Amino acid sequence: MSESLTVSMIGLGAMGSALASAILETGHELAVWNRSSEKCRPLAAEGASVASSVGDAVSRSDVVVVCVRGYDVAATLFDDPAIAASLAGKALIQLGNGVPTEVADAADWFTAHGAAYLDGSIMAFPDAVGTADCQLLISGDPSAFAQCESILGAIGGDIRYLGADPTASAVINTSALAFVYVTAHAFVSAAAMCDTSGAPIDLLADVIGKFTTQMPAVFGEYVAMITARSYESRNLRLASGAEALQAITEFGRTSGVNTDLFESVLRTLNASAAAGHGPNLAAVFETVKRQQD
Ligand SMILES: NC(=O)c1ccc[n+]([C@@H]2O[C@H](COP(=O)([O-])OP(=O)(O)OC[C@H]3O[C@@H](n4cnc5c(N)ncnc54)[C@H](OP(=O)(O)O)[C@@H]3O)[C@@H](O)[C@H]2O)c1
Repeated sequence: MSESLTVSMIGLGAMGSALASAILETGHELAVWNRSSEKCRPLAAEGASVASSVGDAVSRSDVVVVCVRGYDVAATLFDDPAIAASLAGKALIQLGNGVPTEVADAADWFTAHGAAYLDGSIMAFPDAVGTADCQLLISGDPSAFAQCESILGAIGGDIRYLGADPTASAVINTSALAFVYVTAHAFVSAAAMCDTSGAPIDLLADVIGKFTTQMPAVFGEYVAMITARSYESRNLRLASGAEALQAITEFGRTSGVNTDLFESVLRTLNASAAAGHGPNLAAVFETVKRQQD
């Protein structure tokens, strides 16, 4: 059935352009629209037709894929009674990064206008789109997922459908991005410490890269400990972590490096140790989670 689907792609930034190329390769008929029309040209050369407006893009296709910078931007693009009225019976797939509250609002709005709504999170960079390395988390209308599986399969070689709740993929994505951005900042802080001491940061990257190959196994232990609410494993002890971070913070201050990140983590580790939730670093889960209660 999906072989005969017509698709429109709205948003041709770095990610949207990669998505459009991947969809074209499946042989689906594709129309494209972008605010800055010059970004449509390379896709037109690959075989896409160019829609003259968002309304035109919606009216041309069975499936509308949206990937623009922000859910507020996407909402503005559809905020026209004629466009809203033309959504009935279409599948609408939104693939930008949105937090769960934004996704819930978008799902309510598109569903109220008769579209079957899917929300996806692309856990990869544009260069990986269409490859086995491209993880795509997707949630929302189950029938639309079945209908669009071949289109989604063209985008991500590793698709996980998380069920009918449209916010499910955004919950995982938002949590995963929290990890990614803080890890990236941790690397930059480590690089600053290395650099001010005159050490080569390419060597640092190599050492961290090799060391962190062990992290998936540690995450597995964390999941088991958090699930059991029992924090006993010998890997990454809380007391050693607090001692190390105290020393690292002092070294950072001496070296003239910004230590905000280290101090923040150290405060949480010390609070967790004082609360006595367990000897493993994973016990910090109890402290972090209770801050939200
Ligand atoms: N790039 C990545 O590595 C990556 C990875 C995973 C997820 N994502 C997500 O994908 C989404 C798009 O990212 P991107 O990398 O493609 O960003 P981008 O290259 O900056 O492109 C942004 C897109 O949004 C459009 N846009 C921005 N403001 C607009 C407005 N007011 N009205 C109409 N269109 C507007 C842009 O149109 P113009 O071309 O006219 O400016 C362009 O199509 C984001 O949610 C991002 O978080 C990106």
